[in-house]
Amino acid sequence: MLETYKNPSYTSGQRTKDLLSRMTLEEKIGQMCQVDGRTDPEMWISERHIGSFLHVTGDDPVHLQKLAAQTRLGIPIIFGIDAIHGHAFHSGATVFPSQLAMASSWNPELLEEVARITAKEVILTGLHWTFSPVLCLGRDARWGRIDETFGEDPYLTGVLASAMIHGYQGSNLKNPYSILACAKHYAAYGETLGGRDSAEAEVSLRKLRSIFLPPFKAAAEAGCATFMAGYNAVDGIPCSANEWLLKKVLKEEWGFSGLVVTDWNNVGRLHETQKVAPDIEKACEIAVLAGNDMIMSTPEFYASAVELVKKGVIKEEYIDEACRRILELKFRLGLFDDKRFPDTTKAREIIGCDKHKEIARQTALDSIVLLKNKNNALPFSQDIKKIALIGPNCDDVQSQLGDWSFGARDLSRAEVPMLSYHPQYDTSPIVTVLEGLKKRAGTTMEVLYEKGCNMHSEDSCNMKKAIELATESDIIVAVVGDDITLNGETRDRAELDLTGGQQLLLEALKETGKPLVVVLINGKPLTIPWIKENADAILEAWNPGMEGGNAVASILFGDYNPCGKLTISFPRHTGQLPVYYNQLPGWHGDSYVEMTSEPLFAFGFGLSYNYYEYSDLKLSSSGLSARDELTVSVEVHNSGRYEGTEIVQLYVNDIYSSITTPSKELKGFSSVTLKPGERKVVEITIPVSSLSLVDRNAGTIVEPGEFEVMAGSSSRDEDLLKATFEVI
Ligand code: NOJ
Repeated sequence: MLETYKNPSYTSGQRTKDLLSRMTLEEKIGQMCQVDGRTDPEMWISERHIGSFLHVTGDDPVHLQKLAAQTRLGIPIIFGIDAIHGHAFHSGATVFPSQLAMASSWNPELLEEVARITAKEVILTGLHWTFSPVLCLGRDARWGRIDETFGEDPYLTGVLASAMIHGYQGSNLKNPYSILACAKHYAAYGETLGGRDSAEAEVSLRKLRSIFLPPFKAAAEAGCATFMAGYNAVDGIPCSANEWLLKKVLKEEWGFSGLVVTDWNNVGRLHETQKVAPDIEKACEIAVLAGNDMIMSTPEFYASAVELVKKGVIKEEYIDEACRRILELKFRLGLFDDKRFPDTTKAREIIGCDKHKEIARQTALDSIVLLKNKNNALPFSQDIKKIALIGPNCDDVQSQLGDWSFGARDLSRAEVPMLSYHPQYDTSPIVTVLEGLKKRAGTTMEVLYEKGCNMHSEDSCNMKKAIELATESDIIVAVVGDDITLNGETRDRAELDLTGGQQLLLEALKETGKPLVVVLINGKPLTIPWIKENADAILEAWNPGMEGGNAVASILFGDYNPCGKLTISFPRHTGQLPVYYNQLPGWHGDSYVEMTSEPLFAFGFGLSYNYYEYSDLKLSSSGLSARDELTVSVEVHNSGRYEGTEIVQLYVNDIYSSITTPSKELKGFSSVTLKPGERKVVEITIPVSSLSLVDRNAGTIVEPGEFEVMAGSSSRDEDLLKATFEVI
């Protein structure tokens, strides 16, 4: 008779229990291990009973899965990958805009679709788990990983992350195209001191509960199957050593039933770097007791944990509990019954198919933010016959794709030609701005291209030619920003100015007197007051993905009306950091001796080719209890010439409270599409309980009293209509 764990008619829980009872200590600890494919994977299967590999690609997953099937118990392996904006390490796959870019669309349905497509492409290459979404808040633009975040706001991050989790996991993990999502990096990893990656996060318990944990709670509520513990320490306790964070809050308070994986060698780092453990054994003990279930890339964990249990230092029940969570997910994914080996015919048809590319293009279109448009410099007028396309990011495939795509992770020095690492990666489907613009211009307009400067040195890269082309053109489109040597893990920046010869190039282009349109391709906000002052129009395209060039062209030509809104504030100067919008009130600190403390571009800001007028703000009631809902309505009028979509934002301020609270917090948003001249009433309903604060005893409470409700087109006061109501 079939053993219970092999019999699909039993529940995942029953099958897990049965399997666990058959396993040796070594087999259970092996399940808790995850290493990457460079570390003798076959040995890890046959001798150490490994539970999971990461970054194994090509034909290897199938080969290794078959080996695992031949072991004593035949426990399948879970393969993980960082497919965080598409399955971007896989040649030919669909590469979407970076997470920060996608966030500018404020479009949860679209992001769910992006995740659904990514899941499909991931599963068709034999993998089952993406380490996405990133729920860190991007509050200090110097931090190298800003491009991986959804921006600075906890509420928006929770909404967009939940949408992606639904997209990756589907309604049931057993669905043929569902993969595991991973909420990371738990918690407060982005709040590093000085923007320095993986440094200590200076965060109080109250701040943790009010700002940094809510997006993770939303992810747990959305059913996210896995969580990743951050590299950082919070208040002296490394996340992987934090029993309160992993067990008390996540597993007990929020009822999380999935698995917690450490980040890369978090356990080794407890000893080597954070030094809370005098040796690796102690580090392993701390990590197991704190509630980490799977240990990423600490190969020493296997032997140490076996030894520690045998010596009685770690009770076997801790190992059982971790292993139970891992096995249960494998059962829930259906891996025991169907290995989900990729169907190569389907893979060829589906990965990177036109339908997926179309969504990549739509996402790029909705992610682009129009930051300035003086005298309607955009869209291009009929009179334009010659465009000078100038700048280092006009035709740079890797800047366009951004981090966590091919090449980006192999790189340590700026001057290394990254593509040379990946000669097999097919870059032909990736449309740069140069290609997109040329294609769109067709024969009706001439596009004259010159790179004009280097990103990493002031040495001229034919700036003279660039100026000549600009002089003979009707308009200049300058594509500047940064590249992946200036973004990503361990690539934090001390300043955020344009690098190399870019500023000089822009100034020289300005001298020509021709209209200057600046397109930014960059992973993070840059300090660009000169551009704000001097450009006629500015498009923030972020890392717009494989269809970025087509999307930029569509917007420049007016085929699409831009509708993205910033989800992160731009500083004027790095000395202003942090500039996030939801700051606490101070007495004197609203300006510096040298400049204002206001950001250059604020959270929520983004223009359109139209102007939207807001009027008639109404609240459903002037007095509500914490159990009620509040409906806010506002009329929006498209007074422009184009059809367009506006993202209506709702902020609330708890006017008097027992602790200091931000003068504005985003509590809801909604998008509305309007034809020229059309007006619509937009309604946003929120539970009054969402207006709670975390009080001085770390309790959550909605305090009675007056609240200010603000609705409008950005977080700036001048863009908001205001009304008040009372919580009784
Ligand atoms: C380290 C990164 O911090 C994390 O985001 C990533 O998922 C893992 N490595 C695996 O690549």
